[in-house]
Amino acid sequence: MEQNVQTQKPFNEEVLVEVKNLKQYFKMGGGKVVKAVDDVSFKIHKGETFGLVGESGSGKSTTGRTMIRLYNPTGGQVYMKNRLISGKIPKADAAYVNRNMQMIFQDPMACLNPRMKVIDIVAEGLDIHKLVKTKEERREKVVKMLKLVGLDEQHIERYPHEFSGGQRQRIGIARAMAVEPELIIADEPISALDVSIQAQVVNLMNDLKEAHGLTYLFIAHDLSMVKYISNRIGVMYQGKIVELATSEQLFAKPLHPYTRSLLSAIPLPDPISERTRRRTAYVPAKEHDYSKQAPTWREVTPGHFIAANDLEVEKWEALYR
Ligand SMILES: Nc1ncnc2c1ncn2[C@@H]1O[C@H](COP(=O)(O)OP(=O)(O)OP(=O)(O)O)[C@@H](O)[C@H]1O
Ligand SMILES: [Mg+2]
Repeated sequence: MEQNVQTQKPFNEEVLVEVKNLKQYFKMGGGKVVKAVDDVSFKIHKGETFGLVGESGSGKSTTGRTMIRLYNPTGGQVYMKNRLISGKIPKADAAYVNRNMQMIFQDPMACLNPRMKVIDIVAEGLDIHKLVKTKEERREKVVKMLKLVGLDEQHIERYPHEFSGGQRQRIGIARAMAVEPELIIADEPISALDVSIQAQVVNLMNDLKEAHGLTYLFIAHDLSMVKYISNRIGVMYQGKIVELATSEQLFAKPLHPYTRSLLSAIPLPDPISERTRRRTAYVPAKEHDYSKQAPTWREVTPGHFIAANDLEVEKWEALYR
């Protein structure tokens, strides 16, 4: 399947979104606090696909949701084209984010209102942002969006339950695309789909990206698909990014033991190597001794960042000598 996925073209250096020291803590009962996102920083360049990976509960969705203003951050900032878009901001800036950052979800059924026809689902953003003037223009725009994602005019009066999972994801993409956003946050958009159609949806997303100058934040559990579709990847563990690099760097020279553990979980295409593949577990207590020196965020080679202390940099780099 992976072989059928187009890889990414180089992206430019213009920063579209900057996430700076972002924190999202949730207060639970009994004074307990869940640090879902704990001091996360990264930049997304215009035109790139930035992959965010990590196991369940590592804070990927919360990062995306905080970026899109579903939560007010506990700390830190988010900037889009150098303008502050987190916390208390002027109405015009909030409207700018609402239009220019769109989200697509793992389970399109959960975000597509079952009582709404496709036309009204896809046109929702157009209505909110008053982007169409007449009924005819609205319909035309929806048909155009449906064609863009491989559906057509005859689907317009139907309801979400009349579609397959892959088609529903296409509707979700059409809906996000309709308002012509700059950034699409795709939260595990293919994990719920049949393996046979995952590549189709990914390729569709890639084609749309090229044609419309889009930028993606692509959230996923594991690295198998993200490897092929991301320009750069951030690896999250328990609310923190532990490694950030280009796709090539991360696969050629994964440094952090958590990244190495995620990589060891990817099945290999060659049956002989697959038989001898060893999944390495990540046990933080065994890997790190931060009693003498705490980890800091550092750039080991241009564009390749890790959270580590001095000893660890030595030790992990030595793996490749
Ligand atoms: N609204 C909320 N209130 C309280 N805790 C939350 C809330 N949302 C997320 N959490 C907690 O924050 C942590 C991070 O959750 P998050 O959903 O961001 O992880 P994730 O990486 O997206 O996981 P998954 O791969 O399962 O989607 C988890 O411990 C989760 O239980
Ligand atoms: Mg999630």
